[in-house]
Amino acid sequence: MAPVPQTMTAIEVSEPGPPRALRPTKRPVPELRPEEVLIRVVAAGVNRPDVMQRKGAYPPPRGVTDIPGLEVAGEVVRVGAQASSRSVGERVCALVAGGGYAEFVAAPAVQCLPIPPPLALIEAAALPETFFTVYLNVFERAALAPGESFLVHGGSSGIGTTAILLAKADGARVFATAGTRAKCDACLELGADRAILYREEDFVEAVREATGGRGADVILDMVGGDYLARDVAAAAVEGRIAIIALLGGPRAEIDLLPFLLKRLKLSASTLRPQSIESKGRLARALLERVWPWFETGRLRAPPIHARVPLEEAWRAHELMEEGSHVGKIVLTVAAA
Ligand SMILES: NC(=O)c1ccc[n+]([C@@H]2O[C@H](COP(=O)([O-])OP(=O)(O)OC[C@H]3O[C@@H](n4cnc5c(N)ncnc54)[C@H](OP(=O)(O)O)[C@@H]3O)[C@@H](O)[C@H]2O)c1
Repeated sequence: MAPVPQTMTAIEVSEPGPPRALRPTKRPVPELRPEEVLIRVVAAGVNRPDVMQRKGAYPPPRGVTDIPGLEVAGEVVRVGAQASSRSVGERVCALVAGGGYAEFVAAPAVQCLPIPPPLALIEAAALPETFFTVYLNVFERAALAPGESFLVHGGSSGIGTTAILLAKADGARVFATAGTRAKCDACLELGADRAILYREEDFVEAVREATGGRGADVILDMVGGDYLARDVAAAAVEGRIAIIALLGGPRAEIDLLPFLLKRLKLSASTLRPQSIESKGRLARALLERVWPWFETGRLRAPPIHARVPLEEAWRAHELMEEGSHVGKIVLTVAAA
């Protein structure tokens, strides 16, 4: 195994701003806390929260590196004193609270997962952020059950593609909204039973029609704003609405009466500030319940829209903000 150098290439936000604010720099290789492992990064997933961090709208939690990047895959090259659950030489993917856009990253051992066969490292790098998020919000908090109907907004996004694949693998009936015909086709190709072109169709009507007037049992919403009232209208009796982002704005005016009459539940959460224990618990749940689905072919990896060299991270953000991607954008590390 190649020796671990003192310094590494990493991407920093020179100052909050446009994609070009992302610049390669030299940083010391991270020091390990006892519960962490050091990963030589082969690939790092790009997520919308990284874009918000670059713009200065989503600062890293206290004590977390300013280097962006919430997920990686690579090889364990050092193991902290209390991280013996992992070993040097192991190939893992990991959820991190920051620091993924770099040649090396420190990750809590409990937030690492093995690369699920038959996935490549690059595909595995694109799993943790969306899998932890979807599993927590859809399967745990909103308790989607096999046979229920599920609506996801932004169906072609990183989160959306993962949500479609996971919900279908678990036996739900899946509806997805998307902004273009091509994105709708991508949602159908991933297994969605119905894709709704929201610019031309009212998703409330479409979901009602597809469910014989019943509505969706679970709705995963990354839009917020005026979508919330429409989610309430599209929800079934005993429906659960899970909000994970507010791309359409943070304010909503809703009629609470349908909440009472339909006995609805509303939940909202962000993953990043949660404790290592909580993320470790989610990692174990994914390992036990979801990872075997890859091996049996019940689940495939979300699509990778583009691979971009680490040094050109700005280009990955440009692509994401341009907004025509389907699935994930991944940074690759040449030295790995
Ligand atoms: N809470 C959490 O723990 C958590 C964790 C990870 C990510 N997130 C959030 O989840 C969202 C998706 O993340 P991602 O990495 O998957 O991003 P992404 O791939 O860039 O997807 C964003 C999607 O949002 C849709 N969209 C944007 N503005 C919209 C609007 N006003 N109305 C309707 N749809 C809109 C776009 O779809 P169309 O082109 O079809 O409109 C696009 O597919 C982000 O907001 C991110 O911050 C939350």
